[in-house]
Amino acid sequence: MSIQVNVIVGEIQKQEAQAVVVNLFEGVENPGGATAALDQALSGQITSLIKGGDFKGKSNEIAVLYPSGKLPAQRVILVGLGKPEKFTVEAARQASATAAKKARDLGVTHLHSVVHGAGAGGLSPESAAQAVVEGTILGLYRFLELKTKREDIKPDLTSLTLVEFDASRQAALESGATVGQIMAESTCLARDLVNRPANIANPTHIAAVASEMAEDVGLQCRIMEKPELEELGMEAFLSVNWGGGDPARMVILEHNAGVSDLPTVVLVGKGITFDTGGISIKPAKDMWLMKGDMAGAAAVIGALRAAALLELPLHIVGLTPLTENMPDAFAAKPGDVVGSLKGLTIEITNTDAEGRMALADALTYAGEFHPDAIIDIATLTGSHVVALGEHAAGAMGDESLLEQLKVAGEETRERIWPMPMFEEYAEQLKSNVADIVHLGGRPAGCVTAGIFLSKFVPNDVPWVHLDIAGMEIVASPRPYIAKGATGMGVRLFVETLRNWKV
Ligand code: BES
Ligand code: MN
Ligand code: ZN
Repeated sequence: MSIQVNVIVGEIQKQEAQAVVVNLFEGVENPGGATAALDQALSGQITSLIKGGDFKGKSNEIAVLYPSGKLPAQRVILVGLGKPEKFTVEAARQASATAAKKARDLGVTHLHSVVHGAGAGGLSPESAAQAVVEGTILGLYRFLELKTKREDIKPDLTSLTLVEFDASRQAALESGATVGQIMAESTCLARDLVNRPANIANPTHIAAVASEMAEDVGLQCRIMEKPELEELGMEAFLSVNWGGGDPARMVILEHNAGVSDLPTVVLVGKGITFDTGGISIKPAKDMWLMKGDMAGAAAVIGALRAAALLELPLHIVGLTPLTENMPDAFAAKPGDVVGSLKGLTIEITNTDAEGRMALADALTYAGEFHPDAIIDIATLTGSHVVALGEHAAGAMGDESLLEQLKVAGEETRERIWPMPMFEEYAEQLKSNVADIVHLGGRPAGCVTAGIFLSKFVPNDVPWVHLDIAGMEIVASPRPYIAKGATGMGVRLFVETLRNWKV
């Protein structure tokens, strides 16, 4: 789905439209602005709704009015923004998503909307427009490519027109809208990769999608095939691929490659396209969710797309080690010891702790780019799901980098939360037979996983690890996140990179 977004200067009550969207804050009895203008044209229908107690303006509350000739528009969609004192970009994203989904249900294909939050909400015109476009596109996202029966599926919206009466704001709204569209569409790319089943979205497929996308947006893309990875000595990563399946590979995406004097940021994403657990095989229940074990890689690919389209003034590298984790006669076994690009020998005690093996070599390889910062993102541990659930990623590493991510996480609502990195935890990673064991047992499993990764990060490079296990696929929908893949990480990364402080 690709939607045409435009900003026009005009009055909402004069738009000839299939539907116009206006808003109401909770507790407001006499609406102002665009809502007042429409109410007047509708001879007070909106105030009647409020007075009758039928519409309170609660977040995501929705009502549809039919002007029957009083306005050139066929429908008015009224959406609640919640309490004004609680209003943020998040409320604007949610309200936009709710209104857009309602419009689509009604068969609307061209939607006109005011920019929620740009008036009484007190947001800047840029961030309000960004939020409205982001919320609309993310809210309308569906994964339909494998459905053959389409009769009951409502058509996609083809256009969104933001209507603003103050001409002096048009440029700001347009630039915000562009950012919102890039953020949202890049998130949808990540969602597609995660939703797509593992028989289709294997390493070959993901590498092909990344390289096609790179071509489209002007990123440099290099794919390291298995022989090259072997040559380099990425035995930790490759051991995950010993059990067969599609050959492992590493995708390297680069934005502003070769441009000198730019800070370099490397993003590393776990790309296990299906995690059976290997010889330490997982139980059947919920194993299907492991098609999403490449959500870190998807987030990195989506973020690189956005970085290119936004022309961010940074040198950004995306590294995604891709492999399936399968059991067969050649698969890694518990007790095996393998080498790594760093040179450390690693004892494998559970082949289901495979993500850290792939990431260890990718993190070491990140050093090739002489980075100023490295951030990895991974559906790494069940322990993270238990600790933080689906509303925060566990974050470990450099404090100031972590703080930058935290700020971006609040803004995008892709939140992160710090986990401790006390050296004492490293005790759990002592091996009897090798330099290090990859698993520290049950206590603080997500923490020891992060500590394990830290041993492979190039010395002195600020690094943060993000565990997003459980956040990549959700079972219950939210206003702008449908059941299924969330695209978690794309907006968090892009926001962090947009605000980059060296
Ligand atoms: N991919 C999983 C972690 C995961 C769990 C992601 C739930 C999303 C939802 C990871 O590779 C894994 O299997 N971790 C295990 C390792 C353990 C069995 C040694 C874990 O943390 O439970
Ligand atoms: Mn696993
Ligand atoms: Zn895994």
